[in-house]
Amino acid sequence: MKVIVAGAHGNVGSLCVQRLRQRHGCEVIALGRREMDLAHDEAIRSALAAAGDFDLLINCAAWTEVDACEADPEKAARINGHAVGLMGSVAADRRARMIHLSTDYVFDGSQTVPYREEDPTGPISVYGASKRLGEERLLAASPDHLVLRVSWLFGSGTGGFPGWVIRQALRSDTLRVVTDKWGSPTSVGDLVEALEFLAFEAREVRGPLHFCNSGLTSWQDWGQHALDEAAAAGLPLRTTRLGGVTMSGLAAEAGWRARRPVHSALCNERYAALRGQTPRTWEKAVTDFVRKALDSFAETHEF
Ligand SMILES: NC(=O)c1ccc[n+]([C@@H]2O[C@H](COP(=O)([O-])OP(=O)(O)OC[C@H]3O[C@@H](n4cnc5c(N)ncnc54)[C@H](OP(=O)(O)O)[C@@H]3O)[C@@H](O)[C@H]2O)c1
Repeated sequence: MKVIVAGAHGNVGSLCVQRLRQRHGCEVIALGRREMDLAHDEAIRSALAAAGDFDLLINCAAWTEVDACEADPEKAARINGHAVGLMGSVAADRRARMIHLSTDYVFDGSQTVPYREEDPTGPISVYGASKRLGEERLLAASPDHLVLRVSWLFGSGTGGFPGWVIRQALRSDTLRVVTDKWGSPTSVGDLVEALEFLAFEAREVRGPLHFCNSGLTSWQDWGQHALDEAAAAGLPLRTTRLGGVTMSGLAAEAGWRARRPVHSALCNERYAALRGQTPRTWEKAVTDFVRKALDSFAETHEF
């Protein structure tokens, strides 16, 4: 199988390329921004033309700086919206399938039960609107393509939010995180396994699909769980209890431009039914991440 991975150097893209090559022996064409800048149609057309025929395109690329997007809606729409539709059209012309990553930020966050695939979207930020545009453009290019919505990614690169909390607690006596934002963390490793399943075993799945670890939590409880695991493993934390701040308080302090959905947990039941197995809980995934990353925390910290 020949697979193109766009966004090949990002958190998800880099692990995706590695797994497709090592576990599945796929021919993988790994495209970063230098090889295919999504801001330019011609760059997309020529990179995909140079790739020749392919079976699957997985798009992990996006302009993910939520606050920066607010200042340039046109650029956000071009990269996260229009470019996705163009890649989807080229893939459809080649009779190839495309799997595209989207986000919980397509929802407004006013719902207090996890969002299902068919729930109405209603982005409240430029980033969210641009990602929603990408979903629409992709499925207009071909209804056979797949939009995989994920939320609160963690675990690769520097570890995302749990990694940040642990590194801060290694050097700081106090630490405050947001208390009133709820959602479903998603381990990047688990996500890439889901991508492998959708690429090789569930090839007929189309439309929007939600994937996240099971259970929902607040940012504060998510970070606290990571800290508890780090403390139990003996890391010399300077603080073991996270303080709290409201989202509006932090937005004012940190100068956030974009509004964030308050309650954006995703319901992963459709995925669980397809897979015949419910994704592991976010607590298990965080515990696993902290245990595996202990050496890297030790290396980056001077004891
Ligand atoms: N991170 C999260 O918590 C989260 C939550 C929900 C959904 N998602 C979605 O999941 C997907 C993967 O996220 P991630 O965390 O892996 O993101 P990431 O690490 O920021 O990776 C995104 C990649 O896209 C590339 N990119 C940005 N602008 C580009 C352009 N104009 N042309 C080509 N490539 C460009 C970036 O390249 P450069 O490094 O050169 O900028 C980067 O390698 C995205 O679709 C995101 O919307 C993420």
